[in-house]
Amino acid sequence: MTNSVELGELKLPNPLMLASGTWGFGETLPRKILSSVGALVTKGLSLEPRTGNPPPRLSETPCGLVNSIGLENPGFEVFRNRILPRLLALGPPVIVNIFGESEDDFFRLAEGLAETGIAGLEVNISCPNVKKGGIAFARDPEGVFRLVRGLTSVWERFFSVKLSPVGPVEEVALAAEEAGARALTCANTYPAMTVDLSRGTPRLHLGGLSGPAIKPLTLRLVYELSRKVKIPIIASGGIMSARDALEYLSVGARAFQVGTAILIDPEAPRNILSELDVALKDR
Ligand SMILES: Cc1cc2nc3c(=O)[nH]c(=O)nc-3n(C[C@H](O)[C@H](O)[C@H](O)COP(=O)(O)O)c2cc1C
Repeated sequence: MTNSVELGELKLPNPLMLASGTWGFGETLPRKILSSVGALVTKGLSLEPRTGNPPPRLSETPCGLVNSIGLENPGFEVFRNRILPRLLALGPPVIVNIFGESEDDFFRLAEGLAETGIAGLEVNISCPNVKKGGIAFARDPEGVFRLVRGLTSVWERFFSVKLSPVGPVEEVALAAEEAGARALTCANTYPAMTVDLSRGTPRLHLGGLSGPAIKPLTLRLVYELSRKVKIPIIASGGIMSARDALEYLSVGARAFQVGTAILIDPEAPRNILSELDVALKDR
């Protein structure tokens, strides 16, 4: 079995995590897969429920997927009372991905999740900060420093800051590390759109591109950042095979996430883990 990994104080049975937003809350995935992965990262959670964007929400491109889900989620109360107990019972550590429109939203979510038995938080900073005129947290290194510093006073355990691949990525990563982040997830989707040629209008704009198309881009980011920060990096971007995962691990990632691959083949995490086992034994 692939080796366990340590991300600061968080020990995982193996380095494969299910990426936020790509496996629902496990409704359609075989239990075997859910219970054999290193960690489950939930889809983004906000204080209040969100209905998300109107359809279409997914648009395929030749080597990637553009999504515009709009962070649909049931909100904190329903998640904590009805969904989380089921996820915790599956076995792997549960990392809850949180987002908010203000620093205070993040702090309240972290406080609310403190006594629930989760293994950690993943802090999505790709969302707009309403108090700063809607500029994304990820474009504002000072704002990220304040957010992360504030979080450390309400959340004392593992949390990873999930970077956006656009904006001042290096400055944001360094600010997050200096403020006390335990790890960085590198990275979220890339801004993208698709067109409905029959109408000559956008089919889906304000979307995020994921899948194989982004792997070389995010791979470079992981490589660059791993030379700048000391905290562990969790890679997320176009991992479809054990080879992709190995590439990320070889340039400095400590763990990795599988996302779009699950939407194509729900067995992908299991296949990647077993191929990784073989590849690591052969080394
Ligand atoms: C349909 C879909 C929904 C997503 N929802 C979230 C989310 O709620 N929060 C988040 O931080 N990232 C979200 N992501 C980004 C993924 O977690 C992942 O970082 C990204 O897709 C890159 O990895 P991949 O190429 O393996 O999919 C979503 C991605 C997809 C495709």
